Amino acid sequence: MEITSLFNISGKVAVVTGGSRGIGEMITAGFLANGVKVYISARKAPALIEKARELSEKYNQECIPVPCDLSSMDGIDEFVNQITEKEDAIDFLVNNAGAAWGEPLESFSEKGWDKVMDLNVKSIFFLTQKFKNLLSKNGSDDDPSRVINIGSIDGLNVPSMETYPYGASKAAVHHLTRVLAAKLVKENILVNAIAPGPYPSDMLGPAVGYDYSEIAKRNPRKRVGTPEDMAGLAIFLCSRAGAYTVGETITSDGGIVKTANHDLS
Ligand SMILES: NC(=O)c1ccc[n+]([C@@H]2O[C@H](COP(=O)([O-])OP(=O)(O)OC[C@H]3O[C@@H](n4cnc5c(N)ncnc54)[C@H](OP(=O)(O)O)[C@@H]3O)[C@@H](O)[C@H]2O)c1
Repeated sequence: MEITSLFNISGKVAVVTGGSRGIGEMITAGFLANGVKVYISARKAPALIEKARELSEKYNQECIPVPCDLSSMDGIDEFVNQITEKEDAIDFLVNNAGAAWGEPLESFSEKGWDKVMDLNVKSIFFLTQKFKNLLSKNGSDDDPSRVINIGSIDGLNVPSMETYPYGASKAAVHHLTRVLAAKLVKENILVNAIAPGPYPSDMLGPAVGYDYSEIAKRNPRKRVGTPEDMAGLAIFLCSRAGAYTVGETITSDGGIVKTANHDLS
């Protein structure tokens, strides 16, 4: 029952897509700081390689960059092949890489629609399919392997911007999480989702000029998310403490979804 046993994840091997910055970097840092070897992916190779070097040095733990574009099947295959050449088994898969696209309804492009759906939904399904064998190698009744899909509160609430496929893609992620959880729980792979609210990143930043103060003011917790908030939840889901949590979509949003329209002050 000690906290060191309940939340211990050291010695595990993780894959975090989109680990070069933002939420993926937060989860990667939390894993590395707690003894997990982490493979991270992103398209921009120089930034990814530099980030892996920086995090390996900071946490004195192996962080391995694997540059690739996960929006196509070729990219997904190449990524899975590269990991399979290096590892016989993996313990955690974090499907984090995602994209958003905004345009007025009247002129919303097919290109924007496909970009969002291909990366946010299709890649999560096929990465999980293709990593299944590596995930099931170490998964046991006592210590199952874990998949965490990064959804969004925009898949639970109606978004305030004209990002039509984004909210739909994230609602799909949450439901795909339940469907995959039902299938994979029998193979000792637990699938859950995290639905973040506002976290500083290159996805959210441009919409607010990288000034998060107004968003923080409107948040029930009066702030945006921090690396500790995100890493802590991911560690819980991957640890002994999270081993009875299956198919859930857990918000990390300061209370936006659960307290909206319930201001009791
Ligand atoms: N930040 C928030 O407030 C927030 C809220 C709710 C949900 N989320 C979700 O959290 C996840 C991470 O978002 P973020 O805010 O951290 O965004 P971000 O800072 O833009 O990071 C996205 C990451 O994904 C990688 N990526 C993008 N397209 C890719 C592709 N085609 N193939 C491989 N990697 C790709 C990026 O690297 P490259 O550009 O080099 O490829 C980067 O590492 C997303 O699923 C997002 O929808 C974020």
